[in-house]
Amino acid sequence: MKALLLLTLALHFVAVMTVVGSLAMTTWFNFVGRMKKDNCQLSASLVLSRRLPVLMTYLINLGVPPLLFAQVLYGRALYTSSVLIGVLWISVIGMLIAAYYCIYRTYDHIKDGKAGWGLSLISLILVISIGQIYSMNMTLMLRPEVWKEMYEASPHGLLMPRGDATMLPRWLFVMTGGLVFGGAWAALLSHMKHIDEGTQRLLRRSGGALGAVGVIVQGVCAMLVMQRQPEGIVAKTMELGLANAGSMIYVAGAALALVLGLLHLGPKAPLAASIGGVVCAFLATTGAVLVRDGLRDATLLTKGFDVMDRQVVTNWSVVIIFLLLFVIGLGLVGWLLSIMKSATPVQETVTQ
Ligand code: HEM
Repeated sequence: MKALLLLTLALHFVAVMTVVGSLAMTTWFNFVGRMKKDNCQLSASLVLSRRLPVLMTYLINLGVPPLLFAQVLYGRALYTSSVLIGVLWISVIGMLIAAYYCIYRTYDHIKDGKAGWGLSLISLILVISIGQIYSMNMTLMLRPEVWKEMYEASPHGLLMPRGDATMLPRWLFVMTGGLVFGGAWAALLSHMKHIDEGTQRLLRRSGGALGAVGVIVQGVCAMLVMQRQPEGIVAKTMELGLANAGSMIYVAGAALALVLGLLHLGPKAPLAASIGGVVCAFLATTGAVLVRDGLRDATLLTKGFDVMDRQVVTNWSVVIIFLLLFVIGLGLVGWLLSIMKSATPVQETVTQ
């Protein structure tokens, strides 16, 4: 359960960060492109926005598995915090639908030569607000000492949790990851042969620069998350082997992603460098997920909740069916990707 939680959560974070970064870049390119009547910027916004609906699908579908695993492992804590902020928690559904709608409309507008940046900006605001609600819940679940007081103050789930110094940097860590993955994603898309050379160059250079800057900004947020932990928690976390390894994987992955991002600033960058950038950013995210998990377990341990302290009776037939379906699912995704690859690309250029 732990392994699956960690793996699927890392994938969820990758999708969240790519959506945040793509939305920010779409907004920027479309706004500046319209102001300056610059076809390359407009085409870059079209290329990015065209892929947003699919990215959003991944974000949501890769959010469901960790939610299931987290509920099984941390149910007592997670259910309580979800109920305490019930109204906000439920509002995520409406916000998500609105954000998704805006994403579809953004692409339609840009494709038809209309302004799309307003819609993508609304979607970006909704998406980062949803991220904040998640951070509220995931930090409130670690503070059983405030639950009773919050419930007495408002049993209707109308309150927002306050007084947790880690909440803001935790949220910022994932959101600034948008710069890293948005940049890496744009750099990767710059290799598509059917887009014009100016748009390729713009996506490659701005993607590389954004990714490199993002690694530094995100690193600062990571340090803030660690600094703001209650006394003794970081030391306790680092005693857990996986978290320790995670911190090293994070640093190595982030450093490599930074170097690979900078490589894109030159006149040309090989496809391998762009793929490497995505892989290293993924490694860094996986490392961060391991540290995050260690922080949660260490915090909950100090409050009498040991996630490993449970009776497990494995239902092997279900596990085997799950793993089989998982592998078949991966195979199907690979097959669909190969079909996509052989399809004739549509025109992805905007002219004004
Ligand atoms: C636009 C939509 C979304 C955004 C921006 C977003 C963002 C985030 C962020 C920032 C966190 C980390 C919170 C923290 O630890 O401080 C998080 C965790 C999580 N998200 Fe999402 N999320 C989105 C949608 C979803 C959806 C639709 C699901 C499930 C159906 C989901 C499932 C989860 C789970 C389960 C975790 C935490 C798991 C754990 O603590 O082990 N997310 N998300």
